[in-house]
Amino acid sequence: MTSTQDHVLIFDTTLRDGEQSPGATMTHSEKLEIAQLLDEMGVDIIEAGFPIASEGDFAAVSEIAKQSENSVICGLARAQLPDIDRCWEAVKHARQPRIHTFIGTSPLHRAIPNLTQDEMVERIEQTVAHARNLCDNVQWSPMDATRTEYDYLCRVIEAAIRNGATTINIPATVGYTAPRESAELIARLIKDVPGAEDVVFATHCHNDLGMATANSLAAVEAGARQIECTINGLGERAGNTALEEVVMALRVRNDIMPFRTGIDSTKIMNISRRVASVSGFAVQFNKAIVGKNAFAHESGIHQDGMLKNAETFEIMRPEDVGLAGTSLPLGKHSGRAALRAKLEDLGFELGDNQLKDVFVRFKELADRKKEVFDDDLIALMRTSTDSEAERLKIVKLAVRCGTEGPQVADLVMEIDGTTHQTTQMGDGPVDATFNAVKALFDHEARLQLYQVHAVTEGTDAQATVSVRMEEDGRIVTGQSADTDTVVASAKAYVHALNRLLVRREKGGTDTAEVSYKVVT
Ligand code: KIV
Ligand code: ZN
Repeated sequence: MTSTQDHVLIFDTTLRDGEQSPGATMTHSEKLEIAQLLDEMGVDIIEAGFPIASEGDFAAVSEIAKQSENSVICGLARAQLPDIDRCWEAVKHARQPRIHTFIGTSPLHRAIPNLTQDEMVERIEQTVAHARNLCDNVQWSPMDATRTEYDYLCRVIEAAIRNGATTINIPATVGYTAPRESAELIARLIKDVPGAEDVVFATHCHNDLGMATANSLAAVEAGARQIECTINGLGERAGNTALEEVVMALRVRNDIMPFRTGIDSTKIMNISRRVASVSGFAVQFNKAIVGKNAFAHESGIHQDGMLKNAETFEIMRPEDVGLAGTSLPLGKHSGRAALRAKLEDLGFELGDNQLKDVFVRFKELADRKKEVFDDDLIALMRTSTDSEAERLKIVKLAVRCGTEGPQVADLVMEIDGTTHQTTQMGDGPVDATFNAVKALFDHEARLQLYQVHAVTEGTDAQATVSVRMEEDGRIVTGQSADTDTVVASAKAYVHALNRLLVRREKGGTDTAEVSYKVVT
């Protein structure tokens, strides 16, 4: 169904703009894993991070640069020479490195570094030329381009092109732009800016008004040939353009948008699940392409139509995005080989030791739950692939509930190898449990988010719980799944605390704190 006409480059910024959204911080090994999946699925350019932001970001970008096989590896840098040098130090290991440098050009953004229009042009000339001396592949972005005075926008873009930028990205930073404006702006810039024909124009849209995908596609129709996007639309505030949406829109509506991407769409579902899992940002059920219900047909009329001819209600096949057809659940008699095969189908490649660990946990689950569905296994994997040190461990938890409160939690927990016990009350079973954890391990971290989802249907369904906590600017997430919601909650809480302990030891704050908003 794909055409051989114009190629649109896919620039994925899940690991930079996506990871920058508060609470979506990923660990080093999670970033490497996601980068590998992006590389394998055919993403043209991976924006791997913001190297000057923290030692962790620098290390992740360098490693990703070393490991990447096919994608261009890009790092972000403010319009400052030390930022650009640091960025180059990280990306230079890549087979195909790119430096992405930017500055806010709209009146509101110009006021932050307090530069006049002329001074800003000078800064752009100096920094883009510096980046180009280091690297042949330089992307430049006028942040908040869509709210920048048009003549000035043309002037700064021309300055960047003259000094060696090879890609010009036009960010709709605050998501205010509408599709027609997005198209008109790109078309006008390509026509008016001297040198525009020698560079690739990119579109980078935020989703504050839910128009990011439409704006990106409109920009492509007007001449942009790079779409910046993230898996599941992860990103600051309402997020960025969702990779899966633009890729599938270009594929399914190739009749009216004759462009192609190099993405292997069958890898979409797997990476979507991994990103949801490591970021702690669950995908909404009715999210286009990757939502749990995107291919579900509930009503009688729909089911009847689907049985007669799938095209009645489906404009794409589930297999196109990597969703296996209905698959048989596993049960307590299923063996290790069946589990391995099923996990491979779901995109998890396990070493022997890892499989051993997962198998034990699978058996425990199968003892409590008649049928173990794909989603149960994904939830199981979500809590078993975390290699971080576990200084805190739940040994035993019993909660007394009833219509007459308060609820009481008896908790036994191991802290650095020593066992401790407490009994605490609370306003509900989860509150009592969290109070018990806090009584045994006192901390100042603030609970920012607590979310529960049922993984499958039925009263024996597993619950997945995500928590997000903050302490001194460090934000961590924790996840867990269990057929008992209170147990899942306790484990997710302790998972987050373990991550916080690792972060405390490493020192520093989140990347988000050193974000691009601080343009000096
Ligand atoms: O939204 C934005 O403007 C950005 C830039 C750094 C490209 O993310
Ligand atoms: Zn952005």
